Amino acid sequence: MKRLILSLPSVLGRGASKLKLRNNANTTTSLQGGREFSDEAVDHSTTPFPEFDSFKTHDELYQFSLNSPEFFWGTLARSRLKWFRDFGQVKDCDLIRGHIRWFLDGQLNVAVNCVDRHAEKNPDSIALIWEKDEPGTQEYVSYRELLQLVCRMSNVLESHGVKRGDRVAIYLPQSPVAVAAMLACARIGAIHNVVFAGFSAEALAGRIIDAQAETVITADQGVRGGKIIELKHVVDEAVQTCPCVKRVFVYQRTGADVPMGKLDINLDKELASQPDTHTPAVLDSEDYLFMLYTSGSTGKPKGIAHTQAGYLLYAGLTMKHVFDYQDKELFGCVADIGWITGHSYVVYGPLSNGAATLLFESTPVYPNPGRYWETVERLKLNHLYLAPTALRMLLKSGNSWVTRYDRSSLRKLGCVGEPLNREAWEWFYEVIGEKRCDICDTWWQTETGGIAITPRPSAPGAEIRPAMPMRPFFGIEPVLMEPQMGTELKGGNVKGALCIKRPWPGMARTIYGDHQRFIDTYYKTYHGLYFTGDGAYRTQDGYYQITGRMDDVLNVSGHRLGTAEIEDVIDDLEETAESAVVGFPHEIKGWGIYAFVVLKDEVNTPENEMKEQLKAMVKQRISGFAQPDVIMFAPGLPKTRSGKIMRRILRKIAANQPEELGDVSTLFDPGVVDALAEKHNQITKKS
Ligand code: PRX
Repeated sequence: MKRLILSLPSVLGRGASKLKLRNNANTTTSLQGGREFSDEAVDHSTTPFPEFDSFKTHDELYQFSLNSPEFFWGTLARSRLKWFRDFGQVKDCDLIRGHIRWFLDGQLNVAVNCVDRHAEKNPDSIALIWEKDEPGTQEYVSYRELLQLVCRMSNVLESHGVKRGDRVAIYLPQSPVAVAAMLACARIGAIHNVVFAGFSAEALAGRIIDAQAETVITADQGVRGGKIIELKHVVDEAVQTCPCVKRVFVYQRTGADVPMGKLDINLDKELASQPDTHTPAVLDSEDYLFMLYTSGSTGKPKGIAHTQAGYLLYAGLTMKHVFDYQDKELFGCVADIGWITGHSYVVYGPLSNGAATLLFESTPVYPNPGRYWETVERLKLNHLYLAPTALRMLLKSGNSWVTRYDRSSLRKLGCVGEPLNREAWEWFYEVIGEKRCDICDTWWQTETGGIAITPRPSAPGAEIRPAMPMRPFFGIEPVLMEPQMGTELKGGNVKGALCIKRPWPGMARTIYGDHQRFIDTYYKTYHGLYFTGDGAYRTQDGYYQITGRMDDVLNVSGHRLGTAEIEDVIDDLEETAESAVVGFPHEIKGWGIYAFVVLKDEVNTPENEMKEQLKAMVKQRISGFAQPDVIMFAPGLPKTRSGKIMRRILRKIAANQPEELGDVSTLFDPGVVDALAEKHNQITKKS
């Protein structure tokens, strides 16, 4: 394997090559209080669960994980994680109150678990493979180098006063520096708040303010698909409205000459001047590790908060067992670190297992639709984990972009974010994986912390069915609820609201700053059950298939968006009286965005002008991916007599299914439905 072990300058990228380093020696980290790690090393090479070798099958072990959660999770927490202090109690959970605590009184450090312990044992093994935007310019970072970088970053943060419990907003391109920033927060006990570097200044500012972050870490520019993204410029605009921000660290990704203001600190210079050793903080299991904003049914994104030990254990276990990860394999999750998939399967899951993990900076179609497969051939990746939307797009480009590259290194393939339709599943299995690789359709959410339902390829001989996530992971007990009655649906061949009955260590602990919203959103609808917001179907033999969201949340190209967020922006257009946004099935993106906009009386602005203005507003206030695909200036909205918008009707119109409108007699003005259908026909005929 082609292998480069790089020193700090190349890890940092272009701008850093000018820097001088104080100390590049291989160093080990001493621990606070002189305590050594308790490391009950486990050999997973012969059996996936050596801790429980009396169980003959995964099914038996699954039942055990439900029946004896204390023993199951307690054993794994001790064998798979390194602790400064053992925990006393495995769990203390009451879902009715949204009270979730795992591994009480235990103390550990997540960065030590992800970096130090591997750097100590295998300093030269690869931790990160930075697949930069230009093909063929990849860089490798060993565990030793990652440790040094994380230590320097930790020293930089602490030297500027960042301390335990502080929130740090990270708005960075996919890079070793971004991973080091996350891990440095973990190391010193700060709470990171990564914001996808595609969100607008206003969306970024909202997340900074909600988290009351004093520190922002960004870059001069990002590079993606051959295009420059002006990250620093976006941050400059955002922080103008964030009085809480005291400092902005700027990493030089491209070396562009960006203006540096009063708050700005040159991160590259700071890193070079700090020592590459650092004493990790001793943190409690239930201290916050990070928060990550995600969309809900209201206009205000929720800061989903995860804690240290439970999240890390769950991310690590699922990464290893869902993908049957074996030592020395190269794990390729192409998600951005700005999403939960990037947190759990680019950073924390792989690194806690000492794996080599891919940091993919580019896009699936840059410089052409062969990019993923060329990357697989060049880097010899063993696992590829991606989004169905990318697969559907690539499928359209034809097989020759795939078959010209050698994919024989691939062993397991995975996808997440939306339902993987059958055609895409078959293409993934037959063409990409040459019928050799298991397909892991993984269902989970920002809130679940890690994969919750998925076929289980590490169970030898387990059947995998196309286009369904199938089996709950260990400790996860899904239930389907009847939405009207609120009763549990038993047996097979039933469809209902997907809930989870028992707590598991990786589940979210709260919505940052709003625990009541956490309880109301997740634990009230079905008293004491975790409600996912998704619907699901259970087959006769007990396997799960996801049927889609049951609330006003859309999955657009794998990005989760609240319709209310988009409506809030549309309603701010001077000419808008009211609006309703719904999703419609979209061949590539999964769901498209359809906006019904009712204008005020006597508006004379040309419709095209208003459409452009609305799209620009959504882009500016949320992001490009939130722009509506269709905007209809509607004669009115279908409402009940009490004034509630009947979104079901709008969804049917948007999906071209007027014949399935059902009973509209309860509407205040049933005539509006025909007018909407008529207008929809005009729009779709034109396009
Ligand atoms: O609707 C489900 C869908 O994505 C939602 C979670 O979105 P987010 O929190 O952004 O996390 C995405 C990555 C974990 C879910 O509520 N979803 C996720 N995976 C699948 C899925 N829908 C169908 N099949 C899946 N495999």
